[in-house]
Amino acid sequence: MITKYMDKDTNHRKICGVDMVELAEKYGTPLYVLFEELIESNYKQYQTALTDVYKNHLICYAVKANTTFAILKLLGVLGAGADVASEYELQFTLDAGIPPAKIRANGNCKSKQYLEECIKNGILINVDPEEELDILNETARELGMAAKINLRLAEFPLKHITSPAITTSSEWSKFGIPVQRAKEVLQKVLNLDHLIPNGLMVHLGSQITDMGAYHLVLDELIKLVADAAKIGFDVKEINIGGGCGISYLGKEEWNGIKSKIADTNDVTWANELLGYNCNNEWVSEELYCPFTPDTFIQKLFNDTYTANRTFKERLEAIGLPKIVVEPGRSLVGNAQVTLVRVCHVGTTPSGQNIVHVDAGVNHHSQNIIVPEQLHRMEIANDIDSAASFETFIAGNLCYTGDLLCRIKNMLNGTPKRGDYIIIYDTGAYSDFFASNTNSFPRPAKVMVSKAGKDRRLVKRESLFDVFHRDVDWKKLK
Ligand SMILES: Cc1ncc(COP(=O)(O)O)c(C=O)c1O
Repeated sequence: MITKYMDKDTNHRKICGVDMVELAEKYGTPLYVLFEELIESNYKQYQTALTDVYKNHLICYAVKANTTFAILKLLGVLGAGADVASEYELQFTLDAGIPPAKIRANGNCKSKQYLEECIKNGILINVDPEEELDILNETARELGMAAKINLRLAEFPLKHITSPAITTSSEWSKFGIPVQRAKEVLQKVLNLDHLIPNGLMVHLGSQITDMGAYHLVLDELIKLVADAAKIGFDVKEINIGGGCGISYLGKEEWNGIKSKIADTNDVTWANELLGYNCNNEWVSEELYCPFTPDTFIQKLFNDTYTANRTFKERLEAIGLPKIVVEPGRSLVGNAQVTLVRVCHVGTTPSGQNIVHVDAGVNHHSQNIIVPEQLHRMEIANDIDSAASFETFIAGNLCYTGDLLCRIKNMLNGTPKRGDYIIIYDTGAYSDFFASNTNSFPRPAKVMVSKAGKDRRLVKRESLFDVFHRDVDWKKLK
């Protein structure tokens, strides 16, 4: 649990014992602040629950969620493996000392170099799409080696399980091999002499808050294991990917906001019906999640779906294949805040409150993917009034869509120029699209240790860092 309180002397917000205003002044804003304690406790929830319920498992941190060396080192020491999505993430992960046997290689468009590096390092490749099978077989032949593979499957009958942009195993997905073709593709693998068949893989999407989706897919996979065995494909591993959601807001609070949006009750930018389809069904992320990593694992294995047998019992019946999970958001999402500085407080021509801050949506990029994703925000320093203030929060980029959320935020007072705002739960995918839009430098990232000490992990870019790739400009320097 994150410990936070207002320091009585300074009237500054402290989180895990560290003064957020002091951090903002020391490193500059925008600033990402990670909390070691929370990453560790999230990981331990997975580890303890899995050790209790299903020994043959592997937890692979999804490196893309927050690509930071210190996170990889920390999780590596705790025993984690990694899910990587490119040859670059792969090299970074190997450099952090994650053993190749604990790495899973994902991606729907893997380069030849990526495939070769995986084969040479003995890294398990989640094949995606089907066309990759022949390419991989050929690449392994050229190297005089064999490639160990899982088949990544998709096209499950899953509707509205999260935002469409991050739904990755349904009918409309660019990922995976259609599950309807699985039997033919399993046979094809057996016919390719430079592939070593290992297992099956799925990744349903991100911020999934519905256990039923996992159960439906796991049920299909368990049935498929029996079909695979009949043709001599021994499924040693079932990888269920990542996706476990987190709670950005409390249950009541989130339900209240959803119904306000449905009433077009002045809470969204330009009164858009964000997140709803034309049948008035909610079709995006849920921002309250009824489980945490430990209860997610317990439900996954101990719930029944068909035939009154738990998934654990059904997995025992098929020989206890290794279960791999690839969590990203649920390991790091709640373990980071972003500190931003207020530049102006005003109103839009339509009369809405608007606070302008010094971070664009490119540095809060979860909201590029899902514009309606709301984060709790709070003024970090001494504030003028105790009354809450409902407002849109705009970034510093030169386009109107640059809002840190398209839903109004409730602040703990009316901010003024120079105040700092804490944006909570930004650990996952916040610098996913980090760029130098309008030539702003990319932010620094610091880690607060369990002992309450801050350490810079990533430096804030300088003018030189922003422009040095332009060779003519660089010649002047
Ligand atoms: C293949 C794969 N595994 C795991 C993850 C992590 O998902 P999450 O952060 O929702 O746990 C992703 C995210 O996109 C992914 O693509």
